[in-house]
Amino acid sequence: MLIIKEAAELEAYVAHEKNNGRSIGFVPTMGALHEGHLSLVERCVSENDTAIVSVFVNPTQFNNPTDLATYPRDEESDARLLAKAGATVMFLPTVEAVYPNGTERDHEFELGAAAEVMEGKYRPGHFQGVAQVVCRLFQLVRPDRAYFGEKDFQQIAVVRNMVRSEHLDVRIVPCPIRRADDGLALSSRNALLTPEQREIAPMIHRVLKESKEFAATHSLEQTRSHVVASIDAVPGLRVEYYEIIDADTMMPVDNWAEAAWVVGCITVYCGEIRLIDNITYKNQEGNWN
Ligand code: PAF
Repeated sequence: MLIIKEAAELEAYVAHEKNNGRSIGFVPTMGALHEGHLSLVERCVSENDTAIVSVFVNPTQFNNPTDLATYPRDEESDARLLAKAGATVMFLPTVEAVYPNGTERDHEFELGAAAEVMEGKYRPGHFQGVAQVVCRLFQLVRPDRAYFGEKDFQQIAVVRNMVRSEHLDVRIVPCPIRRADDGLALSSRNALLTPEQREIAPMIHRVLKESKEFAATHSLEQTRSHVVASIDAVPGLRVEYYEIIDADTMMPVDNWAEAAWVVGCITVYCGEIRLIDNITYKNQEGNWN
């Protein structure tokens, strides 16, 4: 596996691969890699000739300086894991390599209403920062396919809107959430949980999973309130929001029949650590699952 740190070197590498007719798959990450990331990398490796993985903690998507300062980093372990998973290139740039003209955005991305709700509402500027870095990375890597985890469910919709509005030619491939044996969605932030917090964090998924049964005999609003009350009842957990949405638009819905594809998206503070997760009530075909 090659480790590339300079943008120009990456561009030269990509040009060489493309000239040789090789397809390029891309997994953008912020490092502190876990099994969830590695499942994206493995899929990327199996579907493309060249698999490029970026490890870059993007400062422009953090609206909380403490969150940026404490974000877990472990480049040595990341390099080892990526080599083992079969990645062709680890792109490990500095902030200057990604943003040679500074981190200030030269334009606002058109991300649509999907970027205004949930994460967009509670983390102002977050999705503009995500769009900025993903767009820049796509320009450098020029991937045929790019892989994103469904834990960040809303992010996938926002990235798709960015790809459309910037006229980029890349296929966005969503990949299923990976969970620990106790159900906790794998996340780099889990490394920041104390042992006591790690014990209670799986309650988030447990309550969401049980809410699918509850939903069969209750209204959408009753289900939403039930999830919030059940998680808030666990000492140490605090729900920031729980929205049940039309997954085609990311807009909250009022009743189960209002949309075909219905997903619940949650953000919970476990102490100071912000965890997100989601659950599908009705799948893309409109079937309860
Ligand atoms: O999902 C993430 O880890 C980040 O938002 C991403 C897509 C790598 C952009 O920094």
